[in-house]
Amino acid sequence: MKGCSLAPMAGADGEFAGMLMARAYHLDRGDTARNKVLIPDSAHGTNPATASMCGFEVITLPSDADGNTDLEALRFSVGDDLAGLMITLPSTLGALRFKHP
Ligand SMILES: Cc1ncc(COP(=O)(O)O)c(C=O)c1O
Repeated sequence: MKGCSLAPMAGADGEFAGMLMARAYHLDRGDTARNKVLIPDSAHGTNPATASMCGFEVITLPSDADGNTDLEALRFSVGDDLAGLMITLPSTLGALRFKHP
């Protein structure tokens, strides 16, 4: 073979790689305070699993009445301890509704 790719192709592998990258990014900057990852309650079970495997505390975001991530809960959860947000689009429920003001 002339070359190969080691890109993680499975869903869970991709999430795990993403969480490892997020952890490495923060630690490389000397930021050890960012230890929380926000994950919607509609997420695939591998989302909280891979975040936990990387040493993060998982904060579950509730869904609103339309099945979308509750943006008020998201705003409330953002802070100096936030390491990442793991979002699937469209959501694992298949819901993707945009509200126009
Ligand atoms: C967001 C998400 N993560 C993980 C998985 C699991 O994927 P895999 O079996 O390829 O690891 C799925 C599967 O649909 C998914 O939607």
